[in-house]
Amino acid sequence: VKPIAVFDSGVGGLTVLKVLRSRFPDENFVYLGDTARLPYGSKNPKTIRLYLEQCLNFLNHYDPKAFVVACNSASTQVTEDQWMGKPIFNVIDPVVSIANQSSQTQRIGVIGTRATVQSQVFSKKLLDLNGAAHITEQECPLFVPLAEEGWVDDPITNLIAFRYLEKIRKAQVDSLILGCTHYPILAHSIQKAVGFEVQLIEAGPAIANLLQETLLIRTNENSDTVFESTGELKILVTDSSKHLNLWALNLLGLPDQFQIEWVHL
Ligand code: DGL
Repeated sequence: VKPIAVFDSGVGGLTVLKVLRSRFPDENFVYLGDTARLPYGSKNPKTIRLYLEQCLNFLNHYDPKAFVVACNSASTQVTEDQWMGKPIFNVIDPVVSIANQSSQTQRIGVIGTRATVQSQVFSKKLLDLNGAAHITEQECPLFVPLAEEGWVDDPITNLIAFRYLEKIRKAQVDSLILGCTHYPILAHSIQKAVGFEVQLIEAGPAIANLLQETLLIRTNENSDTVFESTGELKILVTDSSKHLNLWALNLLGLPDQFQIEWVHL
């Protein structure tokens, strides 16, 4: 059975893969993290597009039935809905549509890497759906290393979150888009900094809904409970480091002996 190819600049996209595996336990997945060249979030859009194309072409060797770009920085550079004749999904469109539906006050916040926020893709797409929306965007470049360091709900992370999110707090948003696939890991600190009444919107469930509708995948009805994934999983990285490998296995709940493959594009 053809796998679903999931791509990220590194390990952040695993937060999306985790949701997809739990929702679609029979599906096979091949995940590529371009860890040799991460972060993408601080790079020029043209560089990000070049890296993205190389990674998608590499993943195409696994003959996937679809591509999921589980990185917001890379998703800002995805303009097509087909790649090599197969559907390609970015993580921005499904999140934008959920935020638009869920916001009551039409005051929506977006946080992401520098590349994502400076692209203004979220604002443009939200305003295309709803011209009356009031969007506040904030780049939070320190969140990615904090998440990878495992400083989850740590006093320092909380302090940084409080400082970064001041503008979002003042804007009195009712929904906040976590526009970077690392951010769900820091959700608790982010929630505390913006207030518990603000709804956080992340990519995993949004893209899972979209895949279910478009690819007609059979789902695990009890996706919130313990699941046994029977599908095959391959995790490929362009640079192997003990720290990130352990981090990845831990996040996905995989056994220590699971082999993460080191590949060269
Ligand atoms: N996972 C990437 C994203 O969603 C952030 C990491 C990076 O900067 O490469 O934007």
